[in-house]
Amino acid sequence: MGWWSQAAMGVALPPQVSRRWFRHTIPLAIFALLLFYLCAWSLRAFSGCRFGTLSCIAEGPPPLQVRQESGSLEAPEREEPPCLGPQGPLGRMVRPFRASLNPEGDVELSQYLAGWRELIKFLTPFGSIFAFATSEAFTKVTALEARVHGPEAAHYTSLAVMVAWERRAGLLERPGVGPGDSARSSGSRTTLLLHRALRWSQLCLHRVATGTLGGPGAGEQCSDAYNTVLAPHHPWLVRQAVRLAFLSFPDRSHLLELACPGTREAAARAAVVRAASALEDVYNRTQCLLAEAGLLQLA
Ligand SMILES: *[C@@H]1O[C@H](CO)[C@@H](O)[C@H](O)[C@H]1NC(C)=O
Repeated sequence: MGWWSQAAMGVALPPQVSRRWFRHTIPLAIFALLLFYLCAWSLRAFSGCRFGTLSCIAEGPPPLQVRQESGSLEAPEREEPPCLGPQGPLGRMVRPFRASLNPEGDVELSQYLAGWRELIKFLTPFGSIFAFATSEAFTKVTALEARVHGPEAAHYTSLAVMVAWERRAGLLERPGVGPGDSARSSGSRTTLLLHRALRWSQLCLHRVATGTLGGPGAGEQCSDAYNTVLAPHHPWLVRQAVRLAFLSFPDRSHLLELACPGTREAAARAAVVRAASALEDVYNRTQCLLAEAGLLQLA
């Protein structure tokens, strides 16, 4: 409940009014979000492809190890805090994501999804906005897992294998033909939606971890990330509802405490930066593969 009053103070409303207002508005906002999200996808077209010129294979797997070392430039201490360890909230998430980047420059889907499961667990306590994003993600992860472990499992081992197969199977026709078009239910499309949500999570974590005193708060930083990454794909009503939900976003110290319980702030920040850059490696690789396959506009 702590951040409610902080959020209220943040927008300078009289506490009593704002608290009652929030208590009624946030659930409504979430409800509206869920409702409109379901029928929202066909309304917007993707407009930009910033990293479309990357070569996926050239990046290869080494960046992870390299980054681990260079990460200590930002880290004030070399010791890895427990939150990045095998049982830590960040470590449990980063490990499968790293493992998803295979030496061939592809993304292993089962590891990618295992990473996503941990990311969802990690983000769930962050409040209503993440609860919303993660319940959406949960549905997508489950849908994709059903394919990875389903009768066509052989075609869903990695991102490139899946895309090639779904293209041959005619599942990747351009959308916009109507609500029943097959691209809507393809694994490639599901991956694209998860991919954008991953970008948002990554930017949000990175900004929260590197934010300065007196700079924009965590909620504002993550809201900016939302506006950059996800808002262009959401209809107006969803964007308004998300904006409201951001008012109850936890503050930086609360976020860092969830990420690295019992760790000093500087070390917690450094750990979150490293986790975020592991997510960025996965994002970059996936972005590259989707761009090469011409699938960034599939949804
Ligand atoms: C991801 O790609 C961007 C754009 O090419 C680059 O600036 C960034 O350093 C890459 N991130 C990682 C973690 O490799």
